[in-house]
Amino acid sequence: MKSQLIVLVLACSVFAAEACVGSIYSLSDVASAVQCTTVNIHSFTVPAGQTFSLTLANGTSVNMFGDVTFGNQSWAGPLFQISGKHINFDGHGHIFNGNGPFYWDGLGTNGGIIKPHPMMKIKISGTFRNAKVLNSPAQVYSVSNPAPLLMTRLTVDNSFGNLPNAQSNGLPAGHNTDGFDVSTTDLVISNSQVMNQDDCLAINRGSNIVFTGNTCSGGHGISIGSIASDVGVKGITISDNTITNSDQALRIKMDATATNSSVSDITYFGNRGFGLRLFGILIDQSYPDTLSTPGSGVNLSGVTFGRPVTSLTVNPSADKIAVNCGLGACTGTWDWSGLNVHGGIAGPITNFTGIRGFRQKQ
Ligand SMILES: *[C@@H]1O[C@H](CO)[C@@H](O)[C@H](O)[C@H]1NC(C)=O
Ligand SMILES: *[C@@H]1O[C@H](CO)[C@@H](O)[C@H](O)[C@H]1NC(C)=O
Ligand SMILES: *[C@@H]1O[C@H](CO)[C@@H](O)[C@H](O)[C@H]1NC(C)=O
Ligand SMILES: *[C@@H]1O[C@H](CO)[C@@H](O)[C@H](O)[C@H]1NC(C)=O
Ligand SMILES: *[C@@H]1O[C@H](CO)[C@@H](O)[C@H](O)[C@H]1NC(C)=O
Repeated sequence: MKSQLIVLVLACSVFAAEACVGSIYSLSDVASAVQCTTVNIHSFTVPAGQTFSLTLANGTSVNMFGDVTFGNQSWAGPLFQISGKHINFDGHGHIFNGNGPFYWDGLGTNGGIIKPHPMMKIKISGTFRNAKVLNSPAQVYSVSNPAPLLMTRLTVDNSFGNLPNAQSNGLPAGHNTDGFDVSTTDLVISNSQVMNQDDCLAINRGSNIVFTGNTCSGGHGISIGSIASDVGVKGITISDNTITNSDQALRIKMDATATNSSVSDITYFGNRGFGLRLFGILIDQSYPDTLSTPGSGVNLSGVTFGRPVTSLTVNPSADKIAVNCGLGACTGTWDWSGLNVHGGIAGPITNFTGIRGFRQKQ
C-alpha cells in the first residue's frame, strides 16, 4: 500500500505540474522552474544566440521580478518564447531588453545583418500584461494564441531607433520594428503603447481580434495586412486608439498578386490621429507598391466607421483618404459616417463607389 502511494506520488510529479514556485536566475533554471505552476523570473542576461523559452503547464502564473537582457549575436531568434494554456503572465513593469542598437543598420529584415526576429513569440492563452520591450532588433511580438488571449498594458519602446546611427547611412537606425504581428483568432490587445518605425499592429489573417485603447507613434499606424493569397480576415474591431507622427493612421494593405483571399467585417470607432504624414486612411490593393496598379484577388467588404467618431488630422500635403481597389474587388456599401479627417487634400478613390456618409472636402 505504502509503495503504491509512493509510485502514485512519483507519477504525479512526473506528469502533472506542482503547486511549487520555480525561480529563474539563468537559462539553466528554466527546465526545473516550468515544473511548477508559479514561475518567478529574476533579473538575468540570456546568453547570445539562445532563446529564453518557457513551455508552461496549464494554469501557470508567471511573474517578472527583474529585467531580462538578451546577449548580442546575429542569428534568427526568437529571443523569447512562451507557450501554454490559461497562463497569467505579469511583467510587473519589467523590461525585455533586445539591445537593438547592436543590430540596427537602417535595413531591418530587408537586408544588412541577420536580426533575431520576432523578438517575442507569444503562444499562450490567458493574459500577458505589464511588460516593456526596449530596443528590439526588428519585429517585436508575434502572436499565435491557442485559445482566447488578452495582451494588456504592454510597452514597446524602439523610439531610439528613429535616429540614424554609424551603420545606417543616415536612415533611421530601426526598421521593420512592427509592434504586434498577428495571425490568429480570439485576441484582445489593449491599453498598450508602441513607439517604433513600422506597423503598430499588422493582422495578416484571423478573426475576432480587438485592438483598443492603444497608442502608436513614429511608425506606419494600425494595419490589416499585408494580405497574401488564400487567407481570410474577418471580425476585427479597432477602437479608441491614438496614432501620432505616423505615415498613416489606419491602413488595409493587400498584395497586388494575392488570389482567393477575403477581408470583411472591419469596424473602426473612437480612434484619434495627429501628425499623419502621408494619409489619414489608406486602403490599397497594390501592395507592396502604393497606389499603383491594383490586383483583384482580395474581396474586401464591410469596412465601417462607427461611433464614437474616428477623428484624424493629417499634414497639409497628405491625402485624407485613399482607396485603391482592383476591378470588382471592393464590394457592398461601407458606412463611413463615423469618420472625420481634418487638413490635407482629397485622395483618389479607384474602382469603388460604395462609401457612404463621408465626403472628402478640400
Ligand atoms: C487548466 O487551467 C484552468 C485555469 O487554471 C482550469 O480552469 C482548467 O480546468 C485546466 N484544465 C486542465 C485540462 O487541467
Ligand atoms: C550589446 O550591444 C549593446 C548595443 O550596441 C551594447 O550597449 C551592449 O554593451 C552590448 N552587450 C554586450 C554584452 O556586448
Ligand atoms: C482559398 O482559400 C481558403 C482559405 O481562405 C483555402 O481553404 C482554400 O483551399 C483556397 N482555395 C484554393 C483553390 O486554393
Ligand atoms: C465578397 O464578400 C462578400 C461578403 O462576404 C460576399 O457577400 C460576396 O459574395 C463576395 N464577392 C465575391 C465576388 O466573392
Ligand atoms: C481598376 O482595377 C483594375 C484591375 O482590376 C486595374 O487594372 C485598373 O487600373 C483599375 N482602374 C483604375 C482607374 O485604376
